[in-house]
Amino acid sequence: MFRSYVLLKSLHVLLVAVWLGMDFGTFYTYRRLRDSSLSIETRKQMYRVFAFLDMGPRTALVLMLTLGVGLSYLGRWGFTGSSGRIFAIVTAIVGVLWVAALWHQHWVHSAPSGFPRAAGHVKTQQIFRLFDIWLRLGLAGGLAVAAVISLVGESGVIAVDWLAWKLVLFAGIVLSGVGIRLFLPKIASALGEIFTNGSTPQSELALTAASRKTIGFVFAIWAFIILIVWVTVAK
Ligand code: HEM
Repeated sequence: MFRSYVLLKSLHVLLVAVWLGMDFGTFYTYRRLRDSSLSIETRKQMYRVFAFLDMGPRTALVLMLTLGVGLSYLGRWGFTGSSGRIFAIVTAIVGVLWVAALWHQHWVHSAPSGFPRAAGHVKTQQIFRLFDIWLRLGLAGGLAVAAVISLVGESGVIAVDWLAWKLVLFAGIVLSGVGIRLFLPKIASALGEIFTNGSTPQSELALTAASRKTIGFVFAIWAFIILIVWVTVAK
């Protein structure tokens, strides 16, 4: 019990480094790929690096939750009892499948141009994209409700206030991620236009306009992460 708790907690803390480190890399490469003075080939390469680095925060968000629920159960901070144990096991299984689906999505999207992946893989990802959004919304809502009930009521699934606040903040991260996803189709279409037909003032403007709408969500995620670390360490 003690060993698995230390292992899970160490992985949980290491994931904070993976998340923030790769997120800053994502932010920087995204800024560079928007630079219209660079050649299209350089911008395409920059996009490939950006798309790979972006898998860091995407993976970390899911694993952070999976490990966090496991830690909460093992440390008796929340989700206690036999239903908590089942919840921790289900979260672990869903987490692993979710991460596999996210990497499958990356593999489908990073197909060389002119050589798309087989239709079955593309179709699977069209279905997963919808499922992914709803899972995130359900998760954020469920966590926030569970946390608020525990904070205001006598009983709740979360035993300690710091963890309840952490879940409210985590729901903020999930919602900010959904906010970014709302503008991804516009960004993808502007980039697709630039990569296929070359840079024009209109396509650069469309890219800048869509990018500006996401920046607030990116900063919000960083602020939530800093607050979460603060709340957890100061408990
Ligand atoms: C961005 C999201 C998160 C970040 C940055 C984060 C950060 C951290 C850090 C830095 C610690 C170590 C604190 C210490 O040793 O003093 C920790 C521990 C922990 N976290 Fe998280 N966490 C996140 C999400 C979650 C979630 C979603 C849960 C629950 C579902 C959770 C549950 C826990 C638990 C139970 C511990 C162990 C506390 C202890 O042993 O003292 N975390 N987290």
